[in-house]
Amino acid sequence: MAEIQLRNLSKRWGSFVGVDNFDLTIADREFLVLLGPSGCGKTTTMRMIAGLEQATGGDILIGGKRVNDLDPKDRDVAMVFQSYALYPNLDVYENIRFPLKVRRIDPATHRDRVMRAAEMVELTDFLHRRPAELSGGQRQRVALARAIVRQPNVFLMDEPLSNLDAKLRVSTRAQIKNLSHELKVTTIYVTHDQIEAMTLADRVVVMNKGVVQQVGTPTDIYDRPANVFVAGFIGSPAMNLMEGEIRGGVFEGARVRVPGLSAPDGRAVLGFRAEDAGPGAGSEITAPIYTLELLGDSTMVTVRAGGALVSVKAPKDFRAEIGESFSAHVPASICHVFDAATGARR
Ligand SMILES: Nc1ncnc2c1ncn2[C@@H]1O[C@H](COP(=O)(O)OP(=O)(O)O)[C@@H](O)[C@H]1O
Ligand SMILES: [Mg+2]
Repeated sequence: MAEIQLRNLSKRWGSFVGVDNFDLTIADREFLVLLGPSGCGKTTTMRMIAGLEQATGGDILIGGKRVNDLDPKDRDVAMVFQSYALYPNLDVYENIRFPLKVRRIDPATHRDRVMRAAEMVELTDFLHRRPAELSGGQRQRVALARAIVRQPNVFLMDEPLSNLDAKLRVSTRAQIKNLSHELKVTTIYVTHDQIEAMTLADRVVVMNKGVVQQVGTPTDIYDRPANVFVAGFIGSPAMNLMEGEIRGGVFEGARVRVPGLSAPDGRAVLGFRAEDAGPGAGSEITAPIYTLELLGDSTMVTVRAGGALVSVKAPKDFRAEIGESFSAHVPASICHVFDAATGARR
């Protein structure tokens, strides 16, 4: 059982708060993704769980046991970093085997374990190459195999794909997903890439400035963002957000008028996703076209509504000129309303 409990976990350096009261239980075998912009405290959280950084507040429990004061090697946690940290003078086989030697695991078992790990990441044909003779993707797979070979209770992965080019990132991501399905080990995975988070996670934790913003399944977070920060961080493109005023259920902003909302009167931020809206009937927004982007399966139309750029997905054969007036259908049913002062969902 490797349930992980973080109880009001905090990290301060002087008056600077890197991680602020992180409180969460991660279920045995769950794949949890920490998502947030650079500097929001993701790596610091991971390093505290791994034992590479001392918490300044709160507790970490792994399998019900408090581990705050245990050395990293006694926590049964394997970490995969952005930089692969392979030994350049050892071949793939010896790199994968290394943690077994360090941990003084019965040498009679090494060959079997290394071969099994290598097979899982499709490195069987490369066992006698050195890291310099491998591609970036292959190197990252050696790092993964080296974590797998230990059969740890917990995997921690810190942006493992971010040194790979776009295409390799997608295929390695699929491989990690498949691997996690086979291994069924509690995993915490850090990324600033929301697509990675959405595709891999059982649950996502969105962080900003050391503070947890929302915890939920990818669907929860996409469908019901808890605040303006999450709304603007999740989705590609990010959710359209406009400031304005609600009176009697009608939102009015620059070139925007959406009736039929069930939200209280007052200043508000209205949000909707480009893919939920479309051109035409209703015409809650009418504004000049700022740009058109052909995406293959659709055309993204972006208009300038006052100070805000607002994107709407149109059919792939939609054609118009920049500067032309464009009308979009934005029914109340696709809209999200946030408090203008606090940013919280209403
Ligand atoms: N040793 C340190 N001393 C002071 N501040 C640090 C230290 N390590 C990290 N920080 C700060 O803590 C914040 C969170 O860092 P980090 O956890 O690395 O963010 P992330 O991984 O989300 O990009 C950042 O603002 C960073 O500058
Ligand atoms: Mg980091």
